[in-house]
Amino acid sequence: MDISSIVLAAGDGTRMKSEHPKVLCPVLFKPMILWVTDCLKSLGVKESCVVVGNGAEEVAAVLPEGTRTYLQSERRGTGHAVMMAADLIDQHLDGDIVVLCGDAPFVSAEVLRNALDYHRAQGAAVTVISASLNNPAGYGRIVRSRDGALLAIVEEKDADPKTKQISEVNSGAYWFKGRFLKEALSKLTCENAQGEYYLTDTVKIAVELNQKAVAFTSPDADIIKGVNNRRQLSELNRYARDKVLNQLMDAGVDIPLSDGILISPDAQIGPDTTILPGTIIQGKCVVGKGCVIGPDTLLENSVVEDGCTVNSSQVHQSKIGANSKIGPFTYIRPGCNIGERAKIGDFVELKNSNVGARTSVSHLTYIGDSDFGEGINVGCGVVTVNYDGMKKYRTTVKDGAFIGCNTNLIAPVTVEEGAYIAAGTTITSDVPAGSLAIGRCRQEIKEHRATGKFKGR
Ligand code: UD1
Ligand code: CA
Repeated sequence: MDISSIVLAAGDGTRMKSEHPKVLCPVLFKPMILWVTDCLKSLGVKESCVVVGNGAEEVAAVLPEGTRTYLQSERRGTGHAVMMAADLIDQHLDGDIVVLCGDAPFVSAEVLRNALDYHRAQGAAVTVISASLNNPAGYGRIVRSRDGALLAIVEEKDADPKTKQISEVNSGAYWFKGRFLKEALSKLTCENAQGEYYLTDTVKIAVELNQKAVAFTSPDADIIKGVNNRRQLSELNRYARDKVLNQLMDAGVDIPLSDGILISPDAQIGPDTTILPGTIIQGKCVVGKGCVIGPDTLLENSVVEDGCTVNSSQVHQSKIGANSKIGPFTYIRPGCNIGERAKIGDFVELKNSNVGARTSVSHLTYIGDSDFGEGINVGCGVVTVNYDGMKKYRTTVKDGAFIGCNTNLIAPVTVEEGAYIAAGTTITSDVPAGSLAIGRCRQEIKEHRATGKFKGR
């Protein structure tokens, strides 16, 4: 069956005191609007569009490729925002259209699916998803007749004291029959306290047209949580964080103490992996089984295979092979691919480089724009000199080579298989396989010349 969606995201969010549109506020590092579009994706929506206004380009830039956007150039209410998507509605007159707010990230595919089943079973023109709140202030109230039939949604600002006491509220998510939505939009007026076109008035219009309007009550009131200010954004983050951590623990991830741990909802983590305090996992990371991540570690859009440890380190847009040991104090920048059983130790920075299996880079090293093979030993203080001030060049080191301490590898340069570089060498030309390269000043000894140069401490 034909299902499509309209996400409203043109609001300004003045109270966030931000230069950026509200729907881009991140919850667990993920812009709220993407929580909503991901939910629609898992619902199996064929065609999705987003109504943008404030910061339209900025919002469009984060949306999944191919998402249609419609511009609402003036904020004249939620009904007016939906009017901007007239095109999409016209193309789906015989289908069901879900309308969602881009600033309510916890909307659930399961609730939307159940609401759609109810909407169809009831033959409704509009189905509002509602929830009961202890504190309904600020939300539109669900007004029902004595026998429970839905009559209208009344906004807080238009509500009399009695209506304000109703605890059932409008979540801001609805299913519409396409044809009805088109007709109802043409009948909206702005005769209300805010002088806006309210999408919520479509309920009253359905009742007047003798079409069926129903409310589907979500068993989980949390799906309607939204934000108006930074305090609420922090609350949302805390709520989402606990939810993600609980799901991970239920799936076998060990989180002995959750202090300072923040994990993206899009992270996958295998069982028997331990996450230690101060660990932040952003974006679409995949962490295998039996790893120890943390303390104080940042992983961002990276893959860490089974059995690795990543201790007090940062890994960005890179892949770490199984059973490797990273850290403490390692900085792995985007574009690195590290093989299995590798060791990347303290104060090592890697960038845009491949490092093969069992290679050890234990301390105080910079490897940039390089391809290091397997089973290499990289001594302390090795530097790939990848930049000449104008251009960047690659360094290649083949399997089984030994790079002595404090070697500079001036790129572009290749060290062939099994070569051995003496400590303190500056390599400026290729080193053939199996050979020894040494390039440093010969030491001189001046006897007794130390006398009087240093009196000790
Ligand atoms: C709306 C509902 C209210 C519901 C609440 C749930 C109306 C009239 N009221 O109220 O019943 O309880 O959501 O959160 O619909 N937007 C636009 N263009 C506009 C105005 C809003 O795109 O001109 C977007 C906003 O970006 C936001 C969504 O629509 O994503 C809701 O707008 P908002 O102003 O937050 O509506 P509420 O007053 O909270
Ligand atoms: Ca709102």
